[in-house]
Amino acid sequence: MPRSRSAYRCTECGHEHAKWVGRCEGCGAWNAVAEEPTAVGGGGKAGRRDGGSLRPTAVPPSRLRDVSTHPLERYHTGLPEFDFVLGGGIVPGSMILIGGEPGIGKSTLLLQAAARLETAGRTVLYASGEESPDQLRLRADRLIEDAGAVHVLGETRLEAILGAAGAVSADVVVIDSIQTVYTENLESAPGNVGQVRECSGQLMRFAKDSGTAVVVVGHVTKGGGIAGPKTLEHIVDTVLYFEGEVTLDYRLLRTTKNRFGSVDELGVFSMTESGLVAVPNPSAVFLAARAAGISGSAVTALMEGTRPVLVEVQALAAKSGYGTPQRVATGLDPKRLAVLLAVLERRAETSFADLDVFVQVTAGVRLTEAGADLAVAAALLSSLHNRPAPADVIFLGEIGLGGEIRPTGAIERRIAEAARLGFRRVFGSSRSASQVPGISLVGLDHVEQLVRALAA
Ligand code: TYD
Ligand code: MG
Repeated sequence: MPRSRSAYRCTECGHEHAKWVGRCEGCGAWNAVAEEPTAVGGGGKAGRRDGGSLRPTAVPPSRLRDVSTHPLERYHTGLPEFDFVLGGGIVPGSMILIGGEPGIGKSTLLLQAAARLETAGRTVLYASGEESPDQLRLRADRLIEDAGAVHVLGETRLEAILGAAGAVSADVVVIDSIQTVYTENLESAPGNVGQVRECSGQLMRFAKDSGTAVVVVGHVTKGGGIAGPKTLEHIVDTVLYFEGEVTLDYRLLRTTKNRFGSVDELGVFSMTESGLVAVPNPSAVFLAARAAGISGSAVTALMEGTRPVLVEVQALAAKSGYGTPQRVATGLDPKRLAVLLAVLERRAETSFADLDVFVQVTAGVRLTEAGADLAVAAALLSSLHNRPAPADVIFLGEIGLGGEIRPTGAIERRIAEAARLGFRRVFGSSRSASQVPGISLVGLDHVEQLVRALAA
């Protein structure tokens, strides 16, 4: 008598259940129990957790130095910003995940890339469970690119998609999206943790075995993760996130994992009537909307991966109505804002105690580096005293709890980018050394000096 076809295992603790349950009986985690294939009738497929078959190792191990090296081949998508975040293009046999909220432009980006790859002589299969081929055609008609040669397939059964990829000898397969595909090996519905894991595992093996590059779209859930918990990110070679405000034109493509390039790279696109257009000079675009002579604005340079990008930090300190004053931070950690306000209060005798404080960063960029502290403090002080910060200054430095100002890394590259965009002075730690022509460093040791410099 064959055993039942599936087992249900917790993805957090590994506890096995006879049937699907919402909460793991082992560790109590919610929504972590996933179906996985098990041995059928004792023969055939082995029940390994990754669903693979147990093969005898026919290939003997070799010494590392005897392993031949090849320069990595890459398919250029023809969208320079896309290639840039990938580390130079799509590596054959790799698996790439593109995450993002619905409507941000994932399908548009991939259809444009598919069109350009076809133009360059690569065969692309675009399998969509989200849209029918008619809908894809309508989208394609809007684009600048001619996507006519792209192979499309309105299919959600993984086995059928892989069969079609083999039939057309695809160089690149796009799966739009991982939440809509399912494998026959499992009984659960598409989008289930188990299905997402199993399909991703099969796609990864397909990519490695066939040398086909697989690009998978993953919808981001409310919590910010890609559905089918973190497992999906662990499996793939490269993880890109496509983000931005759906209402704004700018879209940021960011690498958070890359086995074939550096992480935290940022590519900027604008969404137009005829698809996405790369923005080759993000700093200029981010600062373009900056109004001159307004208080509460300061510019800093962030390192986005290997590239410096200038962004504007805006602050508004306004008289609070009643009760506890509000602190609202968009694009930076609210705790960091609280720390900076406390430092300004205790170390520079500048109080925001009965004021509501709002801080935001332009174009949906996030301040994750402490090097942006000085710009946040400058924007706050400028708003408090209703006095615009000098227009030719950028702010670079970390603020310590003692009020001391510390240098940031990669200072030369940041300053060079600022100089290129016409800034003439850097307010930064007096310990930062920089000799970029055309721009001078105003050295500061303590936030009190910043307060005085902005009041002058
Ligand atoms: P889409 O690629 O469908 O997003 P996702 O796959 O991430 O869900 O993007 C859809 C949005 O983009 C939709 O609101 C329409 C807009 N859009 C344009 O503005 N211009 C275009 O040329 C295209 C194709 C879409
Ligand atoms: Mg889509």
